[in-house]
Amino acid sequence: MTRIGPYTLPSKVLLAPMSGCTDLSFRMIAREHGARFCFFEMVDAHSVTYHRRKTFAMLKSCEGDDPIAVQILGNDPQIMLNAAREIISRVNAAFIDINAACPAKKVIKKRAGAYLLKNGNTLCETIRLLATSLSLPVTVKMRTGYGGESVSDITALARRCESSGAAAIFIHGRTRSQGYSGAVNYEAIRAVKDAVGIPVVGSGDVLSPELAEMMLSRTGCDAILVARGSLGNPWIFSDIDNYLKSGGMMPRRGIKETKDVLKRHLSYMYKHMECGDPAKVGVMRKVALWYLRSLPNSKKMRGEISLVKTYEKMIKLIDSFN
Ligand SMILES: Cc1cc2nc3c(=O)[nH]c(=O)nc-3n(C[C@H](O)[C@H](O)[C@H](O)COP(=O)(O)O)c2cc1C
Repeated sequence: MTRIGPYTLPSKVLLAPMSGCTDLSFRMIAREHGARFCFFEMVDAHSVTYHRRKTFAMLKSCEGDDPIAVQILGNDPQIMLNAAREIISRVNAAFIDINAACPAKKVIKKRAGAYLLKNGNTLCETIRLLATSLSLPVTVKMRTGYGGESVSDITALARRCESSGAAAIFIHGRTRSQGYSGAVNYEAIRAVKDAVGIPVVGSGDVLSPELAEMMLSRTGCDAILVARGSLGNPWIFSDIDNYLKSGGMMPRRGIKETKDVLKRHLSYMYKHMECGDPAKVGVMRKVALWYLRSLPNSKKMRGEISLVKTYEKMIKLIDSFN
C-alpha cells in the first residue's frame, strides 16, 4: 500500500480533483461505486483567506465522505499557508495538495496553477513552508512541463519538490500547452517515478480499466487518478478494481441502472447544493448529459434536457426515456 507521509492510501485508484465537477454529490456517488479516496474541488487560497462563502461551500462534506484530500491554488507561500491552516481547522483532510497543473488562462495570468512549473522557486518555497508548518503531509500536482521543456527539466523539478518536503507527486502526463488533449507522455511519468523516492501518482487518459492498467504498467507509478473517465460513469472505480484483480470486464450498464444512478446523483445535488433552484438545475443539466451520452438513441433526450427548467421536470423527462 502507498504511504503519503504517515498516511496510507486505501487504494491505488483515486478520484482526481476536478474543478466544477467533484462536489459532495459527485463524491458520494463515486464512493458508492468503489472510489475509496477522493479530492475536494480545488480551492483558491485567496478566497479561503477572504472567507468567501462560495469557497467554503466547496469544502462541504458529510459522514462517509472520507478519506479525502484538499487541493489549494495560489502563488504566494504565506497566503497558501494561511489558507491551509483555515481549511485544516474546518475539514478532516488526509493531506494538502498544491496545484501546479491547472492550465486555465485566468489561472496562469495570476501566476498560479501550471505557471508554478515555470516558477520552481515559488513552488518549492510553498512546499517547504507548508511542509514545515503543518501537521499534514503536503503533496504537489504537476504536469510533465509547461511546454517545451525536456524530461530532465521535469525530473529535476520533481526532485526539488521532494527535497523541499513534498510527500508525493501527482503528475498529469501532458504539458500545460497540451491542455487536456494529445498523447499522454508515459515515459515522462516513468522518468519522474525513477527520479524520486516519494510516491508518484499518474494521471491522464485513465478512461477505462485497460487504460488504468496501462498507466500503472508503463509508468511504474504507485497509484492513479481517475478524472474524465468518471464523468457520468461512477462504475469506473469498481470496473478498474475488478480488472486489476482478475483481468475481467464487467458487463455494460443498462438504461435502467444508468437512469437510477443519475436520478440518485441529481437528488444528492438537489439536497446539498447551496444555491437557488435555477443555478442548481443549470449544473444538473451538465451532470445529466454526462450520463445520457453513453445511452443509445439519447440525442433527442439530451436536447430536451438542455432546455429543462426545473428539477421535477428533469426527473420526469429521465423517467420517460427508454
Ligand atoms: C473539468 C476538469 C476539471 C479539472 N480540475 C482540476 C483541478 O481543479 N485540479 C487539478 O489538479 N486537476 C484538475 N483537472 C485535471 C484532472 O485532475 C486530470 O489530471 C486530467 O483531467 C487528466 O486526466 P484524464 O485525461 O483521465 O481526464 C481537471 C480536469 C477536468 C476535465
